[in-house]
Amino acid sequence: RMPPLAACYNLLDFEAVARQVMKNTAWAYYSSGADDELTMRENHAAFHKIWFRPRVLVDVENVDMTTTMLGSKVSIPFYVTATALGKLGHPEGEVVLTKAAKQHQVVQMIPTLASCSFDEIVDARQGDQVQWLQLYVNKDREITRRIVQHAEKRGCKGLFITVDAPQLGRREKDMRSKFSDPGSNVQNGESEVDRSQGAARAISSFIDPALSWKDIPWFRSITRMPIVLKGVQSVEDVLRAVEAGVDGVVLSNHGGRQLDTARSGIEVLAEVMPALRERGWEKRLEVFVDGGVRRATDILKALCLGATGVGIGRPFLYAMSAYGLDGVDRAMQLLKDEMEMNMRLIGATRIDDLSPSLLDTRSLSGG
Ligand code: FNR
Repeated sequence: RMPPLAACYNLLDFEAVARQVMKNTAWAYYSSGADDELTMRENHAAFHKIWFRPRVLVDVENVDMTTTMLGSKVSIPFYVTATALGKLGHPEGEVVLTKAAKQHQVVQMIPTLASCSFDEIVDARQGDQVQWLQLYVNKDREITRRIVQHAEKRGCKGLFITVDAPQLGRREKDMRSKFSDPGSNVQNGESEVDRSQGAARAISSFIDPALSWKDIPWFRSITRMPIVLKGVQSVEDVLRAVEAGVDGVVLSNHGGRQLDTARSGIEVLAEVMPALRERGWEKRLEVFVDGGVRRATDILKALCLGATGVGIGRPFLYAMSAYGLDGVDRAMQLLKDEMEMNMRLIGATRIDDLSPSLLDTRSLSGG
């Protein structure tokens, strides 16, 4: 039987429960990575190559985890990243994540391929809650223009263009589970779709593989939302993103679902931040990381290296699938509790206190 929610003490516990209670097709879609899943595993493992160098005898009675991301105030610097097909895990889909994000004052990134319609997810927003849009760029740029401008009109505060998926990766677990879709509103080119290829491939044929740097000025011309490139994986491309004038990058390999044996985001971050600082460019864009973040210590390591914030994907899907809103609520609270404690233990009371000097990165390949 299912363990009580109170028996989940950390984010990995939700994964163990979800694996037992989720339908096989849903589990296969959420949990799969590309090919041999080496990158997916490395995403979390890479955090374990970084160790802390804490400071003691700092007055840590009061800890403040608040900060800003793309100009929006947040209670803690993680956000719910975009993950497609929320209704595979829970009948209400992405709005469950919207409600939990509201309770914790964290940002939700809305996926292009949500199960709920975009407007349903925006309508579920309350008060000054912040949402961003994740964009898969359609071959038909008029469709893309409409999606982007509608999102801006409906109050989205950031445009995250996914750049690591000109073609969807091959996720064999997902392909084996023989996709049949219970709750997707996705119509994009579905008639041409070969469903035997799994959930991911069935919904992605509209994505434009010809998207390039030349398209960035066009995005600037159609929106005033901050533009962030999601899925950047090299120093070279981060520098190019600065030159292209975008507002941010997410160092991400799509949760290990695209290029297998790509490096982890945290490993790339350790290389990117010194390169930006060397040029005095570290204030010219916000650098986010996602992939394998499961503990507040993971969040802290990214922030110490210079990230503005981190994205978290699967753990919230698993918490939602197993326990609904209460599960996501608890997952977020556990992270907050871990974060407060670990800031005390490393001797930091504000996000601004976090710096590379609190880390030993010698075990990283570039450390
Ligand atoms: C994703 N991710 C993703 N990214 C994106 O830009 N558009 C999308 O539609 C999706 N869909 C999606 C579905 C599922 C089930 C997963 C697990 C992931 C990638 C996501 O935004 C993020 O990069 C990773 O999930 C981060 O890794 P973790 O936290 O899942 O380890």
